[in-house]
Amino acid sequence: MASDSQPQAPVGPEYRPATQKPKATVSTPLPHDNVHILPQTPQLIALLTMIRDTNTGRADFIFYSNRIIRLLVEEGLNHLPVVEHEITTPVGRNYAGVKFEGKICGVSIMRAGESMEQGLRDCCRSVRIGKILIQRDEETSKPKLYYDKLPEDIADRWVLLLDPMLATGGSALMAIDVLKSRGVPEEHILFLNLIASPEGAKKFADRFPKVRVVTAFVDQGLDEKNYIVPGLGDFGDRFYTM
Ligand code: PRP
Ligand code: URA
Repeated sequence: MASDSQPQAPVGPEYRPATQKPKATVSTPLPHDNVHILPQTPQLIALLTMIRDTNTGRADFIFYSNRIIRLLVEEGLNHLPVVEHEITTPVGRNYAGVKFEGKICGVSIMRAGESMEQGLRDCCRSVRIGKILIQRDEETSKPKLYYDKLPEDIADRWVLLLDPMLATGGSALMAIDVLKSRGVPEEHILFLNLIASPEGAKKFADRFPKVRVVTAFVDQGLDEKNYIVPGLGDFGDRFYTM
């Protein structure tokens, strides 16, 4: 499938004029206020090019996915509230800073979401991590919930929900239902995602407008098997087993 129904833009360093930059497909913009798309920098586009390539082997797929996951986590943390925090420096001066306001935890949608746990741990030392096992039926694309194990006090935490792929949206929406059933307010949930379809993002925005979605890229759409296109194939298989 051609990528020409998606926007193309000159990609390259700021100091180069647009006429001297190569063009690349960049994320489809979306009208939903709750969806934040990472800036389409040359670095991000190059990393995504690596993981989308069918010829990229597993070791490189893991390495470059991890780099994008790190960018997502760093950006996701910018969406958490902070409070004023003044400190004194070693030279005796005060510095008016901030610190994070509340407790957080990660929740991964197994299996593929587990790939994002290390990136979260690298930024948030000893962060608690819960798990929700949801699997999409290969024939119907409908999600099925098998298992969940979440921190007992999750209702008092900000939750970073982790899943690299948002296709029909079925799995992520089901995960939000689980979190809400444990008392987590929608506005305390942040969904970190590598690639989203416009359909999945819209479902999310319609159903849970207060959940913030931080994604690296919104793709063109879904194919007849509800795979994201141009996408990157099956993330879980490429990260864990292929
Ligand atoms: C993938 C992916 C999401 C889901 C996205 O997982 O990681 O959880 O599909 O599709 P959806 O938006 O249409 O629900 P999958 O169920 O294939 O399991 P895996 O993580 O074990 O690969
Ligand atoms: N799950 C994936 O891993 N990839 C897709 O494109 C859709 C669901």
